[in-house]
Amino acid sequence: MTTRIPFDLKPAAQPLSDEERAAALANPGFGRYFTDHMVTIRWTEGRGWHDARLQPYAPVPMDPATMVLHYGQEIFEGLKAYRQPDGSVAVFRPDANGRRFQLSARRLAMPELPVETFVEAIDLLVAQDKAWVPTEGEQSLYLRPFMFATEVGLGINRPANEYLFMIIASPAGAYFPRGIKPVSVWLSQEYVRAAPGGTGEAKCGGNYAAAFVAQAEATRQGCDQVVWLDSNERRWVEEMGGMNLYFVRGTGAGAAIVTPALTGTLLPGITRDSLLTIAGDLGYATDEVRISTEDWERGNADGSINEVFACGTAAVITPVGSVKSADAAWTVGDGQPGAITMRLREQLLGIQTGTVEDRHGWMHRI
Ligand code: PLP
Ligand code: COI
Repeated sequence: MTTRIPFDLKPAAQPLSDEERAAALANPGFGRYFTDHMVTIRWTEGRGWHDARLQPYAPVPMDPATMVLHYGQEIFEGLKAYRQPDGSVAVFRPDANGRRFQLSARRLAMPELPVETFVEAIDLLVAQDKAWVPTEGEQSLYLRPFMFATEVGLGINRPANEYLFMIIASPAGAYFPRGIKPVSVWLSQEYVRAAPGGTGEAKCGGNYAAAFVAQAEATRQGCDQVVWLDSNERRWVEEMGGMNLYFVRGTGAGAAIVTPALTGTLLPGITRDSLLTIAGDLGYATDEVRISTEDWERGNADGSINEVFACGTAAVITPVGSVKSADAAWTVGDGQPGAITMRLREQLLGIQTGTVEDRHGWMHRI
């Protein structure tokens, strides 16, 4: 049994004015504006979790020798709160993010926050900053829980003995500013994201730090996003920078929706997991497989792979329109968003925004 960690509630004396908030909500973009509050919980060796607080959003002062600045012991999560048709707010599968946060913590030798505390902290922050949850269409309040090593020192013989868990929140419009136009992808053969035994299935900052160089290469190649391949043969498709991938085999009611299997080197996305269920609910066959770049190119040429899309909390579902690598390039299907991609997107967003029945108990009411 876990003991409940009491929260000290210290709301902001002077939150942002209604006008300032309305200006941010009018065009939120992604990760540009932050709400009035944040959650902090400390962990100290021998003492465990303590000093849980809901407090005004503020900088975190740090000693220059704080361990995270040197060795990158940091993990994070991403999830969203959506305005419901009756004006209330609900968060999509926070318990799933709480469990994945524990898995990431274990891999990075960090303490595991109880899932109930993770969810309670989200409840408190979203309830406090409810006015920041957008009311327009697909917009949402993006929640960013994270934890990092706060011990001061440069030794590396053991993990840090102090950590800070935090949650901040940011109103979110579309992740891709061009809307749901298909993205172009670059197959990264030079750089790899993760290798067996590494941290690929953990959501740690270091994975993203190591990815920027490949993202920059994709941009140089005229592509929007990187597709990561396996580290060994550089031919098995794994995932994208911040999204998992799905392939639609066949068309119409007989189509199968397949996604790269969780080999330990890719992030077990909660959107990915939800779509396996949603696609099944809609009557499509689903599978988790290994897909090579040759399978993809061939399937595209012979018409057996007609749609490919990326999925994740920030990006929702985004069609992939074209593919480029050092030695090949092709247009996915007709380069336009596919019918099945858009149907799945509508269904997922419908559940999240409360217009489609939540048959799986995924929406957590605040
Ligand atoms: N893969 C990576 C590398 C990610 O950063 C994300 C985003 O969280 C995903 C996949 C999709 O995961 P989820 O659907 O849980 O957001
Ligand atoms: C998310 O979808 O929550 C992500 O983490 C993607 C990216 C912003 C890192």
